[in-house]
Amino acid sequence: MKTTLVLTIALALFLACNAKQFSKCELARHLLQQNVEKWQIGTWVCIAQHESNLSTTAINRKTDDYGIFQISSLYWCNHARAGKGCGLSCNSLLDDDIHDDIQCVKRIFKETAKFRVNGFMAWTVYPKFCKGDTRHYVAGCF
Ligand SMILES: *[C@@H]1O[C@H](CO)[C@@H](O)[C@H](O)[C@H]1NC(C)=O
Repeated sequence: MKTTLVLTIALALFLACNAKQFSKCELARHLLQQNVEKWQIGTWVCIAQHESNLSTTAINRKTDDYGIFQISSLYWCNHARAGKGCGLSCNSLLDDDIHDDIQCVKRIFKETAKFRVNGFMAWTVYPKFCKGDTRHYVAGCF
């Protein structure tokens, strides 16, 4: 009983410590490091801001979207084990390592661009908030 409680608290603390809210510039630097084209970076930061408030632990239970970019479990991540379009488990999109999240959004972008005007259209916040000039999202970052 006591052990269970201690373990539960330890797990909660672990999860809380693993949660991370990125700053705009921090996210921008990660995107640049993973060779995202510079002209796209303001738009990615805008999307993350409007999707998750830049928090890695964001979950939308209604649409079943995960992480800082709110990646959909419908097509891109799998619940039980790694799988679907990005070959990932949805839980792996919630930790503070966003390397896999960025690889996944690159894939989503590429796949979506085959049938929409551009790859950002996979995100509903894009036409609403991030379609125009997004340079101010990364102002002073580089
Ligand atoms: C987004 O994050 C900021 C900074 O931590 C916080 O002040 C704000 O309340 C958050 N907004 C939402 C809608 O959660």
